[in-house]
Amino acid sequence: MIITGAASGIGRAALQLLAEAGARVYAVDRDSSGLDSLLAQLPGGPDRHVGRVVDLADTQTLEPMVADAVAAFGGIRALINVAALLRRESIEDVSAQSWDQHVDVNLKATFFLCRAAAAAMTASGGGGRIVNFTARPGRSDRFTAAMCMWRPRRVSSR
Ligand SMILES: NC(=O)c1ccc[n+]([C@@H]2O[C@H](COP(=O)([O-])OP(=O)(O)OC[C@H]3O[C@@H](n4cnc5c(N)ncnc54)[C@H](O)[C@@H]3O)[C@@H](O)[C@H]2O)c1
Repeated sequence: MIITGAASGIGRAALQLLAEAGARVYAVDRDSSGLDSLLAQLPGGPDRHVGRVVDLADTQTLEPMVADAVAAFGGIRALINVAALLRRESIEDVSAQSWDQHVDVNLKATFFLCRAAAAAMTASGGGGRIVNFTARPGRSDRFTAAMCMWRPRRVSSR
C-alpha cells in the first residue's frame, strides 16, 4: 500500500499500525530524515518497506511513483492520502502563491494520485481501496482560508 504524508503525524502513526499488522508499505513524504527514521523503526525495516522522498506538488512525479510502487510490491491494493499543506493564515493574508500551493498539494496531487492508483488497481484485476484524509477548516475564520477548498471526502470506486 502507498501512504503519503508518512513522515509525521497521522500518516506516520497509521503507517506504523499497518506495518505492525503485516502490511508492506510504500511511504511517501518530502521529509527525507523523517522517512529514514520511520523506516528504521518498522518491522522488517527498509528491506521490507519502501520510502520515497517526493514533492507531491509536482504532479509529473505521481504516475512514475505509482509505477515504482507496483514494481516494488508486484501491485498495490491500497492508497492512503494523508499528506497535506496546512498553513494557518486568515483570508486577508492568503496570497495567490499560497492558494496555488494548497491546491497543488491538497487537491491536485490527491486527485491525480487517486487516478494513477485506481488505474493500477484496475489493471491488476484485484481492485483496491483508497482513503483520503480531510479536514473541516471552513468552520473557522482563524484557521486557514485557502484550505476551504479542501479535498473531497470520498471517492467512489468500483
Ligand atoms: N492533526 C489533526 O488534528 C487533524 C484533524 C483533522 C484532519 N487532519 C488531516 O489529516 C491529515 C494529516 O494531518 P497531520 O496532523 O498528520 O499533518 P502533519 O503536518 O503532521 O503531516 C503532514 C505530512 O505531509 C507531508 N507533506 C506536506 N506537503 C507535502 C508535499 N508537497 N509532498 C510530500 N509530502 C508533503 C509533510 O511533510 C508531513 O509529513 C491532513 O489531511 C489533515 O488535514 C488532521
